[in-house]
Amino acid sequence: MGFKEEIKRRRTFGIVSHPDAGKTTLTEKLLLFGGAIHIAGAVKSNKIKKTATSDFMEIERQRGISVATSVMAFEYKGRKINILDTPGHQDFAEDTFRTLTAVDSVIIVIDSAKGVEPQTRKLMEVCRMRHTPVMVFMNKLDRNGKNPFELLDEIENELKIKVRPLSWPISNGSTFKGVYNIYEEKLNLFSGESKQTVEESIEFKDINSPELEKYIGEKYSRILREELELITEVYPKFDIDTYLQGHLAPVFFGSALNNFGVQELLDCFIEIAPHPRIVVAEEREVDPFENKFSGFVFKIHANMDPNHRDRIAFVKICSGTFLRNTNYLHVRAGKNMKFATPTAFMADKKSIIDEAFPGDIVGIHDTGNFKIGDTLTEGENIHYKGLPSFSPEMFRYVENADPMKYKQLAKGLDQLMDEGVAQLFTNKFNGRKIIGTVGQLQFDVIQFRLEHEYGAKCRYESIQLYKACWMESSDKAQLEDFRKRKYNALADDKYGREVFLAESPYALQMAQEKFDKIKFHFTSEF
Ligand code: G4P
Repeated sequence: MGFKEEIKRRRTFGIVSHPDAGKTTLTEKLLLFGGAIHIAGAVKSNKIKKTATSDFMEIERQRGISVATSVMAFEYKGRKINILDTPGHQDFAEDTFRTLTAVDSVIIVIDSAKGVEPQTRKLMEVCRMRHTPVMVFMNKLDRNGKNPFELLDEIENELKIKVRPLSWPISNGSTFKGVYNIYEEKLNLFSGESKQTVEESIEFKDINSPELEKYIGEKYSRILREELELITEVYPKFDIDTYLQGHLAPVFFGSALNNFGVQELLDCFIEIAPHPRIVVAEEREVDPFENKFSGFVFKIHANMDPNHRDRIAFVKICSGTFLRNTNYLHVRAGKNMKFATPTAFMADKKSIIDEAFPGDIVGIHDTGNFKIGDTLTEGENIHYKGLPSFSPEMFRYVENADPMKYKQLAKGLDQLMDEGVAQLFTNKFNGRKIIGTVGQLQFDVIQFRLEHEYGAKCRYESIQLYKACWMESSDKAQLEDFRKRKYNALADDKYGREVFLAESPYALQMAQEKFDKIKFHFTSEF
């Protein structure tokens, strides 16, 4: 197969959801369809359950599982599918955001009884920033849920994206009859008797045919016809380009647990989801079809064994062909490196590969050379834009708790931040280090890993902070003035960018009113 065909047949995507909406279940069902696994239950959830907050061995075990399931690749109908897994726990949301920099599209899973939840909203914001095409799988139709029109409105209003249903549910919960697949004009009947339903799928081009009554009865036929008519009136026709630009989300209904609606989703997905797209580097746009290899590190995973503190850097191939044992430029470090054991991930297996194409993810053995966002090329000096940093939600001062281990602490903190476990800020006024996280669990993980992997001890001190704000101003004098007055509330992030540490929403509001020419952002990219 030629280089171009290899790229065109690749679909690299992420499945995201608010915890418990059914991401793990859907992933597993997709792998079953792809023949990558043969029994349900083979994919372990990499969720860190709430009860595990203080159970560090559990966290470590989970980290192990998540290495294995970081990328799940399989072949399906001539396509090479790469599913990038994302952590299920909210406290690791940053990991998920970063993984989204490496996907070409996204499937969002929503629990039809709960509708749009907070985590779904945040994830969609990241997709919107990057114009990532998204599809929605409305899950758990076997349970009583919200009205489907209400759900679509919720997506439009809360996720700020236009929707177009490509399938439509016939009732839900105990009276759930199935879905009508608008895209393929098929009626898929649900038989809820056995949990692993093999659905009956009937070609059904004319929804007005009296045949419909035979399958779903008079009442549901009437409702289905009315609702489909309404859909045609209310929603514009599905337009693939609008989807590819990230402005329109096709919506599917089903039940991942019951294997219902999953194949339709997958079949439509491979048809319409994009192959690897142009990636924007700081210097220029890079086309995947360019001959020269380039890629970037979007995730770093530390080895769990404290005796081997090596790591795996996950590289997304953006252009050209990646070859084993070939010299590539590590742009930030300005040095050439070659990789003897690049790995690919097929479902639950790892194997050393000789070549990889745009869209693929390669795991590279790393002894501490890489940071998230690093670019590799055949020699060109380009830098892929990483993901912006987002303001953490929780902050603590971090202090050395063992004077003999200062160096170990510094190194440990540095490497953990390279991995993206949390964010580190250095206060400009007193030089104190502040760790910012999304949730409490990250503080526990850092403390635990510093001790077990680096032999360092840290202690936290509380600090009253609301947000870290990156600043932008066209008025240099005002910015200078602000710096002078707020010197003790300024800090540098890990990349040396200045942030304002706002103590409270009120403090931020006051600063904004007084310094009206400065824009305060909750993300580092604006
Ligand atoms: P997540 O990765 O998004 O966090 O969700 P996950 O797939 O783990 O699913 C969360 C729970 O929802 C699981 O139940 C799962 O079985 C259930 N679920 C997923 N899809 C459906 C569906 O279509 N219908 C129904 N009724 N339930 C569904 P659990 O009890 O938390 O876990 P488990 O013991 O079943 O694994």
